[in-house]
Amino acid sequence: MTAPSTPTTAIIVVAAGSGTRLGAGVPKALVDVDGRTVLRHALDGVFAAAPMQVVVVAPAGWETQVDAEIAASAGERRHLATVVTGGATRQGSVSAGLDALHDDVRVVLVHDAARALTPASQLDAVAAAVTETGVIPALAVVDTLKRVDGDEVTGPVDRSALAAAQTPQGFPRAALQDAYATALAAGQDHTDDAALFAAAGGAVRRITGSERAFKITTPGDLERARLLLAAGALALPRIGVGTDVHAFGGEGNLWLAGLEWPGEQPLSGHSDGDAVAHAMVDALLGAAGLGDIGQHFGTAHPEYAGAHADVFLARTATMLAEAGFAIGNVSVQFQGNRPRFSARRGEAEQVLSAALGGAVVTVSATTTDGLGFTGRGEGVAVTAVALIHRI
Ligand code: CTP
Ligand code: MG
Repeated sequence: MTAPSTPTTAIIVVAAGSGTRLGAGVPKALVDVDGRTVLRHALDGVFAAAPMQVVVVAPAGWETQVDAEIAASAGERRHLATVVTGGATRQGSVSAGLDALHDDVRVVLVHDAARALTPASQLDAVAAAVTETGVIPALAVVDTLKRVDGDEVTGPVDRSALAAAQTPQGFPRAALQDAYATALAAGQDHTDDAALFAAAGGAVRRITGSERAFKITTPGDLERARLLLAAGALALPRIGVGTDVHAFGGEGNLWLAGLEWPGEQPLSGHSDGDAVAHAMVDALLGAAGLGDIGQHFGTAHPEYAGAHADVFLARTATMLAEAGFAIGNVSVQFQGNRPRFSARRGEAEQVLSAALGGAVVTVSATTTDGLGFTGRGEGVAVTAVALIHRI
């Protein structure tokens, strides 16, 4: 199968297990966690990562439900995702997923739906680390381990030589498919892809995994996922404040609040002097603890000279998303005699909101009764407050 502009990375999300150890009466991927299923949480991570082909491997008879979960999570990436029916073992399910890859795919990630809370950043990190070797995320083993025989403790195990493997596990596509063919021919059944890949002679490296990528296997694991999600939902939002001041000066038209104002005197400054956008950026960066506008967009970054609000704000929103924050709203107040703001308030709010990916932005304007530099018409002053929350 080939499609135009198909991503060259794919992820196979195996969700076809029955969840015997969880014992919920429905396949584990369709078990409700907090109003959303295990699979939905896994897919939310997948669709928050860089765009990839997504093949979800469903339990036989549950394809329609799995498809609905994809539709709910994928947004505009719906066309990148397909459902295939799984096999009797995990290996058989991955194999079914491999058969559905587009021809253009070069790197394959294999991910357990059961690792529902795996951060999107872990998917991106594994994909980026794949070369000709396989890559797995893994955590150091923290418990003291014992070798046992029934109830008898027979000896110690050196945990420094061990790591706990997670998913997604990433591989070069051709080598992984060859390894699957080898395992099939040899009648082997491996519980993870790294073991299968290594059995066929492939090298596997590890990168650091994440505590949140634990596998939901038992009822206790499901409880842990629920508690983590509840704690996240209860976490207090964070606020940030930003101010900016620019003097009128220079040539051309004014740029303020993401709009061009023909006939109005411009503001001077590196970039377009849009003090509304700059105060918003500082409020957002401050709320997220990501530093300030000078650090990320200042004179050391000539690529932003002359840039307008949409560029600054879109980049800021991306930085916040990468740091795990969603933007609630930004409230901005502009002080100055000019421009007369009220007629274009709605337009400005729309442009600024769009630049932030749809977060609510409100802008108010005031004069200062002739007092101060704003009152004398020398420049403008802006204050912005941003509210953000962890995702
Ligand atoms: N899996 C699969 N097809 C199978 C078996 C497992 O797609 N035939 C998937 C599961 O859906 C899960 C992942 O492989 O996302 C890891 O498997 P595991 O945690 O063992 O899930 P289950 O097999 O569903 O659970 P159990 O072993 O308790 O029955
Ligand atoms: Mg299993």
